[in-house]
Amino acid sequence: MLIDAIPTHKPSEYPYQSHRTWRIALAALVVLVVQLAALGAARAFTAEQVDKGQEIFRLQCARCHGPSGQGISNIYHDMTAPPLIGAGAFPLNPRPYQKMRHFQFRTVRDIFEFASAVMPADQPASLSAEDYWDVIAYLLSANGERVNGQMLNEDAAAQMSLAGMQERARAAGVSERPLPAPAGIAPVIEGRGGPVQ
Ligand code: HEC
Repeated sequence: MLIDAIPTHKPSEYPYQSHRTWRIALAALVVLVVQLAALGAARAFTAEQVDKGQEIFRLQCARCHGPSGQGISNIYHDMTAPPLIGAGAFPLNPRPYQKMRHFQFRTVRDIFEFASAVMPADQPASLSAEDYWDVIAYLLSANGERVNGQMLNEDAAAQMSLAGMQERARAAGVSERPLPAPAGIAPVIEGRGGPVQ
């Protein structure tokens, strides 16, 4: 090791140093394992699901929910597509302006139940279950939830509480009342040729 080559240190100092280094490394490892265990229990999706879901979002959801998931008012049959990304996403209760959702979002599975039944609003239930899971994985990731490498599916989603995300939104001062939906934003649908200038 490089440090062994420095002649000014007495060799007897090294065992103490290395003991301490090992203890710190071990403590860090324990903390990491505990954190990973907590994460595993709470959330589960893969990076591949997130990548595929991002593309599905762009093609199937952005025309109403906005290219960055910010929500668009009066976008479809006088209905507002609420934000799906950002501090106010997925509140426990439907917002007062909502006409289609009539139940609480408690776990990620509730989001799936809703989205797979009635979204995209203009083509309900038109995607495969896999596509719905992928797009939900993307939305979770975009909302700051971390990938843990396990597949997001029905069983995993039922274990994934949204309480943490909803609590963070409350702490940030975002109540369950509606976010002011952005007005006058035209839906952006990108083709392969890029956005229209
Ligand atoms: C044609 C417009 C349209 C498209 C396309 C669309 N949505 Fe929506 N979406 C809406 C509207 C309008 C609402 C509000 C429904 C209500 O009033 O309860 C909504 C609500 C939702 C909600 C409930 C959000 C909440 O906080 O209650 C989810 C989840 C959702 N959409 C997911 C999706 C996904 C995923 C896609 C793409 C696969 C998609 N939507 C595509 C119009 C659309």
